[in-house]
Amino acid sequence: MLAKRCCNVSITAIKGFNDILPGEVEKWQHIEASARDVFSRYGFAEIRVPIMEKTELFARSIGDVTDIVEKEMYSFVDKGENRVTLRPEGTAGVIRALIENRLYAADPVSKLFYMGPMFRYERPQKGRYRQFHQIGAEITGIADPKVDAQILTMLRHLFDELGITEPSLEINSLGCPKCRPQYRETLQAFLRNRIASLCPDCTRRFDTNPLRVLDCKVERCKAATADAPAMLENLCPPCAGHFEAVQEFLQLAGTAYRINRRMVRGLDYYTRTTFELVTGLLGSQSAVAAGGRYDGLVADLGGPAIPGIGFAMGVERISLLLEAAGFSKPADLFIVALGDAAGKKAFQLMCRIQRLGFAVELDYDGKSMKSQMRRADKLACRYTLIVGETELATNRAPLKEMATGSQTEVPLVPESIVLQLQR
Ligand code: HAM
Repeated sequence: MLAKRCCNVSITAIKGFNDILPGEVEKWQHIEASARDVFSRYGFAEIRVPIMEKTELFARSIGDVTDIVEKEMYSFVDKGENRVTLRPEGTAGVIRALIENRLYAADPVSKLFYMGPMFRYERPQKGRYRQFHQIGAEITGIADPKVDAQILTMLRHLFDELGITEPSLEINSLGCPKCRPQYRETLQAFLRNRIASLCPDCTRRFDTNPLRVLDCKVERCKAATADAPAMLENLCPPCAGHFEAVQEFLQLAGTAYRINRRMVRGLDYYTRTTFELVTGLLGSQSAVAAGGRYDGLVADLGGPAIPGIGFAMGVERISLLLEAAGFSKPADLFIVALGDAAGKKAFQLMCRIQRLGFAVELDYDGKSMKSQMRRADKLACRYTLIVGETELATNRAPLKEMATGSQTEVPLVPESIVLQLQR
């Protein structure tokens, strides 16, 4: 028998890769526009870097023995036998671009932001996807702790602007190449006696990346490390001084924070200040934004020895928080028209009010008043304007604010209607 060459099974998207549909997209646009607005006030310029880079860029920057590089990268060999990877994060590409284009030569301080898709082969769940989107910001060229406080203040500012105030800012310090190796040994000595209680992943991490044991979500690892020594108590004097100063400047800026001594990050490039903006509303995917200082990264990638600090936030997670906060982007006005002549007037008003900068909707099919009102409700329009024969004759019509039910009579003149919409 001949094999069937086609079937009716439809092709779906790849697991963990999502369509961002109308309704959802408005939230994304709001997040992106707010980020652009806030970042520009802090002097950041946008950079757009490729979605795919040479695999070694990520191995060298994020670290060979991190979960991202070991297990999660979408890497393949292309037709030219090059080993390439879909970017799992944005910092490595931005710093590669900074070095390759010698941006530091024109100005020793770079403030760059980016937005776009990232790819990690993780187990998908709410708030965790294989293609996800980040908005990130990076400052290079300033080692001063004021800049740590500034970037954290900017992050908080953005969330305030979005009306998302619930997440809390947690900070820690991961020290520097002088004090961290010593701490690593102290931690390993502590863990050595408890190795039998650790999960298989952490048993492996004991040798390769013992700090990550502190970050393990498995209950028995949490219990075994409850009283583990922390990096914070093992900082060298310059790192301890830096951390103190960051806190002083955060207080001066009025930016609330709390110290999380157990925070370690899943990327190896961090030095000194690290931070996460953490929510209680998204289950285990609690970090909505995260970042830290990476004073050795530019040099590690072949550039000059200049310090850096930055963060990235997860757009999908912020969008979930916006939804929980009741975000909606309603049209400003629905014009209900009764009869042909009113339909023409409504059409003319709509075209002119849209040009004045407002979102206006109407019914195109000459439906009943009840059905038009239902549509206005469905679109959650802020106002409705009802135009019938009487309104055409008097050139005035009732404008109703849907949230309060209050009604005002307005002349059927675009500028007069707009004056009310602006209130
Ligand atoms: P990260 O902590 O790996 O840091 O990711 C930053 C944020 O991206 C997370 O807090 C989360 O909101 C979001 N995110 C990460 N993975 C996923 C996922 N699979 N699905 C949905 N959202 C996700 C970095 O990527 C660093 N490059 C941040 C940075 C910038 N550090 C310095 N500069």
